[in-house]
Amino acid sequence: MIRTTSVPVILVAALLTGPLPVLAGDDAHDLGLVTWMGRLQYYAHKLGLAVDAGNKPLVAYYIHEVEEVIEMIEDIDDADGVPVGKLVKEILVPAFESLETAFDTGDATRLDADYNRLLGACNQCHEKANRPYLIVERRHDNPYMQRFTPSRAPVSPAPAPE
Ligand code: HEC
Repeated sequence: MIRTTSVPVILVAALLTGPLPVLAGDDAHDLGLVTWMGRLQYYAHKLGLAVDAGNKPLVAYYIHEVEEVIEMIEDIDDADGVPVGKLVKEILVPAFESLETAFDTGDATRLDADYNRLLGACNQCHEKANRPYLIVERRHDNPYMQRFTPSRAPVSPAPAPE
């Protein structure tokens, strides 16, 4: 006997094999600008703590993470009428590239100054994007369960229970 495939089964199969629907924005990898901004803040903050600690491998690591976010937001043409990609290329990328050069040349003083300039670029863009109330400022305290100093010394063990 020939089994007829029901319409719902065919529909489900078509959904499973078809291209993934684009949910929002102009790009399939668009997580939403605000999500990228959260990541940008997170990695930029950790980059600053690594700069403070003079921890070169960790600075290199967070430069890379920040760069990956920049590459994603460069591709966002428009978010709520804000030409995000254009502003990122004009304002953020030059500041970031200067910071990269400072790191590559090993100039710690310039790296520190360029890090401040990077945060200045964040705020400049927030103003241009009609969000002057979003103000990024440098923080030196470490709220993470992560060591930023280069030391590999073990964390002291908790006192033994009585
Ligand atoms: C295109 C220019 C632009 C640049 C450059 C930019 N931002 Fe934003 N940022 C925005 C816009 C627009 C929003 C609002 C997004 C929304 O609400 O949809 C935002 C939102 C935010 C927020 C609020 C959302 C949250 O997670 O609390 C933070 C924090 C933030 N940005 C941090 C940064 C940091 C840190 C940098 C620099 C390393 C930066 N931004 C660079 C445009 C920019």
